[in-house]
Amino acid sequence: MPKITFIAHDGTTTTVEGVVGKSVMEAAVNNNIRGIDADCGGECACATCHVYVDEPWLSKVGLPEEGSNEASMLSFAAVTQPDSRLSCQVFITAELDGMVVRMPEGQH
Ligand code: FES
Repeated sequence: MPKITFIAHDGTTTTVEGVVGKSVMEAAVNNNIRGIDADCGGECACATCHVYVDEPWLSKVGLPEEGSNEASMLSFAAVTQPDSRLSCQVFITAELDGMVVRMPEGQH
């Protein structure tokens, strides 16, 4: 199963195994990763699953489509960056093995 590494703002690093077809948010929640609250359960309505996606994985998962629910929700999120994604909208594939995502300050 693809491994995904979550790095909290304080540097705490946790690597978990994700399930192909499930979201990066689900991998976090299923492994009790602090900083991914996912209050809306993956409905793209809370932005508490906000992450920064490191390269080269950002190029693989891409950015949210302009005008999408995710882009709209990210506009309300704190401290967005050009590599911001909502992890409930990033779905795990085999090629994402080794993916690294970082949590923004304020999510802990
Ligand atoms: Fe709510 Fe991702 S879990 S927006």
